[in-house]
Amino acid sequence: MKIGLLGFGVVGRGVYDLTANREDIQVAKVVCLEDVSLPDAEVTRDFQSVLNDDTIDTVVEAMGGLHPAYEFVRAAIEAGKNIVTSNKALMATFYDELIPLAKEKGVLLRCTAAVGGGIGWLSELERARRSQTIEQVGGIMNGTCNYILDSMTRLGLGYDEALSQAQKLGYAEANPTTDVDGIDTWHKVILSSNIAFGISVDESTVPAAGIRHIKAEDVASFKEHGYVCKLISTGMMADGKLSAFVHPTLVPMGEPEANVPANYNLITLIGTASGRMSFYGQGAGRYPTAYNVVQDCTDLLQGKGFYSPYGGKVAADNAVERRFYVRGDKDAWLEENAQETWGNAIVTKPVSVSAMHAWLKAHPGTFIAALPNE
Ligand code: HSE
Repeated sequence: MKIGLLGFGVVGRGVYDLTANREDIQVAKVVCLEDVSLPDAEVTRDFQSVLNDDTIDTVVEAMGGLHPAYEFVRAAIEAGKNIVTSNKALMATFYDELIPLAKEKGVLLRCTAAVGGGIGWLSELERARRSQTIEQVGGIMNGTCNYILDSMTRLGLGYDEALSQAQKLGYAEANPTTDVDGIDTWHKVILSSNIAFGISVDESTVPAAGIRHIKAEDVASFKEHGYVCKLISTGMMADGKLSAFVHPTLVPMGEPEANVPANYNLITLIGTASGRMSFYGQGAGRYPTAYNVVQDCTDLLQGKGFYSPYGGKVAADNAVERRFYVRGDKDAWLEENAQETWGNAIVTKPVSVSAMHAWLKAHPGTFIAALPNE
């Protein structure tokens, strides 16, 4: 396999290192803006030269972001090149276009590293859905947020200090708002739901709340009540109705999710035959993520692409109900739905996820966290 590698940041550099001594997988060209010189690969700023090079059969996209990643990946598929990408934003946003296009052009496409970094989550999800109905997917999908929340809970760090540590360790996206506002997790649960349910989730119907406004006082109050706060995603299909959402969630201290440390992820599927299956590992970082890119390349050598059927766009209704911890703004709706108070915060009665997120949209400085169902 001869690779045209797009991007030479955290993941791209990792892919180059991990394939350096392989005979079956070679990085032939690297397209990037950095001024690097590599002993055994040509470095260029010209993507077109990858397209025009007939010896390159596979494009590995590790640039991140939507543009120009989308244009490059689309052009590479059109040119008959196989694709491996670690780009969740790209795959969540253009799933209903790129999957059918790859099939039409007869090229293989894989994107395992897009969710869960080094965990073989998406590749196993693809396998799991062949032999049963998947009812639910989700969990801890963002290493940066988990690192921040874990550092605040276990080490008593402040939010800013924990975030800057996560950035130094290379976990955070270039723009950390993507992580801390839940957008990265949002892309990941949309992509996971697409694969699990064989659909293309209408992303405008999936709300996300992040951890930007969490304070030490919240963390202390959760501890007092026996909970740990985690950023949790959910994609659920029940009676043909889709629920999909992301928000901080309070997990009872003994549960597996409560004990996930540092940049680790814990992602779970519930299937009609397998029941609950969870996948644990490093969800971010150079070599864990590059490992899954290289695994995908190896699968391509064996002729294995993603073949999830695509059953059209589906909107989430999010009528499911949860209780929520709400600290920040208060108004009549919140008072009406209050069940108890924890310090300055209100804990609501069960309210629909869609109603809570609609309220939050009008009160953007407020911190919310869902409580487990009783
Ligand atoms: N910024 C992401 C995270 C990287 O922290 O999980 C992996 O997608």
